[in-house]
Amino acid sequence: MSTVRTSTTFPVSDNVARMKASSTLAAMQAAEAMRAEGIDVVDLGAGEPDFDTPQNIKNAAAEAIEAGLTKYTPAAGTRKLQKAIIDFYQREFAAHYESNEVVATAGGKQAIFNALVSLINPDDDVLIPKPYWVTFPEIVTFASGRSLFIETEENDFVLTADMVRRAFTPKTKLIILNSPSNPSGRVIPPPEFERILEIVAAHNAYAISDECYLRFVYPPNKVFSAAALRPELRNRLCIAGSFSKTYAMTGWRVGYSLANADWTRAMLKVQGHSTSNATSISQAAATEAFNGPQESVATMLAEYTSRREWLLPALNEIQGIRCPKPEGAFYAFPDLRGCLRGRISSAEFVNQLLEREHTVVTDGAAFGADGFIRISYATSMEQLRKGVERIRKVVETQ
Ligand SMILES: Cc1ncc(COP(=O)(O)O)c(C=O)c1O
Repeated sequence: MSTVRTSTTFPVSDNVARMKASSTLAAMQAAEAMRAEGIDVVDLGAGEPDFDTPQNIKNAAAEAIEAGLTKYTPAAGTRKLQKAIIDFYQREFAAHYESNEVVATAGGKQAIFNALVSLINPDDDVLIPKPYWVTFPEIVTFASGRSLFIETEENDFVLTADMVRRAFTPKTKLIILNSPSNPSGRVIPPPEFERILEIVAAHNAYAISDECYLRFVYPPNKVFSAAALRPELRNRLCIAGSFSKTYAMTGWRVGYSLANADWTRAMLKVQGHSTSNATSISQAAATEAFNGPQESVATMLAEYTSRREWLLPALNEIQGIRCPKPEGAFYAFPDLRGCLRGRISSAEFVNQLLEREHTVVTDGAAFGADGFIRISYATSMEQLRKGVERIRKVVETQ
């Protein structure tokens, strides 16, 4: 294994030295710094809902504090939250999970971390379709695995079973699936998802299904969870779920994993010796999120729907930009290569946009797709209109 040199004198471990810092968090910080200087920043970079956490969820947390639910909980989560998660999957997808298959985590990110670290050995191959959420390859690196990326552009960023079949190597242990996708918003059609899992099972491999944007799917597409797959396929799967986006709870840090009992036991070792349990108060809030009224989810989806209806034609009207319609999540992922014409990279475009027009978007290269940018429409229509106008101005000067 090669030694990684670092520029500091601090002897960072090799695996961490190989990891890249989060570029989406960096974009948030850049916007924050400009705002602090009083600059009128348009932030289309944020990967979080612009809505407040629903009141019933906040109340449940306040009651938990008053009731003294401020101690450690079992590492896998409180019984109430485990039951709420199990009931949700039974109700929505007729999928039955036992409590030894559920772990409440500190966000979906920790579920993915636990799943990878408990499965991957040095030099195992992990398949990651492009464009990917920035964190996937970094955790694979941390776990000493090797990321193998799957190109999906030929199908407008929708992964197919054929692509997966071609990508498998004898060392492939796992594939990471994320539908709806961050950054592309594309959705893998359920029959194709099933075919992908059949290939995974045939190779005796495993899959993580990151379902962080599960509920944000635009008609005619329907909400689909891999939990609904037949048991022999589901057995190969770890579902990483999150309360962050669905209930506008990014700061509460609560998510969950659903996987077979053996994988879950291994993940509990990782979690038990790292963060122990998700915050007790956030767990009470998450229990209410799943058990309580769901109107807030529909309200948010309706708002994202109308923003998307406005945004897509507005982007496609700009000369040189091409953007297929996202079927889920709250991101548009336009192709800028028609206006960059190979003269500048998308990273340089993103910088120009920030410096000249004080507008934050995320460079597609961070997600493995140079020439693209990610625009989050988890922001007000006013900000979106302003942001698109500013993008147009910078495009027109290329
Ligand atoms: C694709 C994807 N997965 C997982 C997460 C993790 O979310 P959290 O840890 O807040 O649940 C995010 C957050 O941006 C995401 O975009």
